[in-house]
Amino acid sequence: MSILDNIKVACCQISNLLTSGNCLQLGSKISVNNSCGDEVKKLDVLSNDIMKEALLNHPDIRAIGSEEDEDIIYTENKDGKYFVSFDPLDGSSNIKFNISVGTIFCVFEYIDGQIESGRNIVMAGYAIYGFNTLLVTTTDNGLDIYLLNNNRFEKISEGYRMPISGNIYAINESNKYRWLDNRIQKYVDLLINDKKTVRWIGCMVTDVHRTLIKGGLFAYPLDSKSPNGRLRLIYEAYPMAYIFQCAGGYSSNENKNILDIKFPEDIHSRTSVMLFSKKEYEQFCTF
Ligand code: F6P
Ligand code: MN
Repeated sequence: MSILDNIKVACCQISNLLTSGNCLQLGSKISVNNSCGDEVKKLDVLSNDIMKEALLNHPDIRAIGSEEDEDIIYTENKDGKYFVSFDPLDGSSNIKFNISVGTIFCVFEYIDGQIESGRNIVMAGYAIYGFNTLLVTTTDNGLDIYLLNNNRFEKISEGYRMPISGNIYAINESNKYRWLDNRIQKYVDLLINDKKTVRWIGCMVTDVHRTLIKGGLFAYPLDSKSPNGRLRLIYEAYPMAYIFQCAGGYSSNENKNILDIKFPEDIHSRTSVMLFSKKEYEQFCTF
């Protein structure tokens, strides 16, 4: 089985937990904060165990890095070609409200024993658990979208490319007086002048998925509360930047392409994230 096949099995299991469970219980807090300082919910732990079980025994995987584990975990396969990072349950503060959550994953290839940056990524994707469970994966030719039906993922779209522009921007605008770079406020004003409207669910997978389907902007810029960024580089920013690139979109950390950021020492290191369709990226570049 390929790495993607194993991920499909895991995402199917997580989806079944969500649809058969009681969202009030699944979303209850079960322990003090994890290595990133986030509250840990019951479903975070269950999803992490499911993803680890699916990946740790795969013969091609040398190591994995999860949002819910302190450090990289090495497998028995010292010659495995790949490192896989994942956020087993993204947006878990939404579980108890019955709002979509997701799983994000990213496969890096070791080159001469090293991972230099996001340029080592060979595949990335996410599952979104809404009233449909969808799996979105990168290919050489755009994105493939699968629908979970009777415990099997059926491909419903092949080679998907995002629109070149869209009328929605997704940003937590309550941070606007804290944004560190004043270009961000000017850019958002420009989008508003363009008659765009805001949507913010607070689950990266869901907000990103809408941006991929509708076009526009997703951003979580640096602010005085999170001066190093809110979102995590290896299992949130890199995979979504790679997915946008494959779909014909663009990424930035306010300064350069997210895929060019050096692979961090700390697997939980954070970054600013901006993900655009083509026209919105060109407008940002004029600042
Ligand atoms: O994983 C972090 C996360 O939950 C993302 O899914 C989401 O985009 C972001 O945090 C929401 O942050 P805030 O609550 O500050 O809007
Ligand atoms: Mn997350």
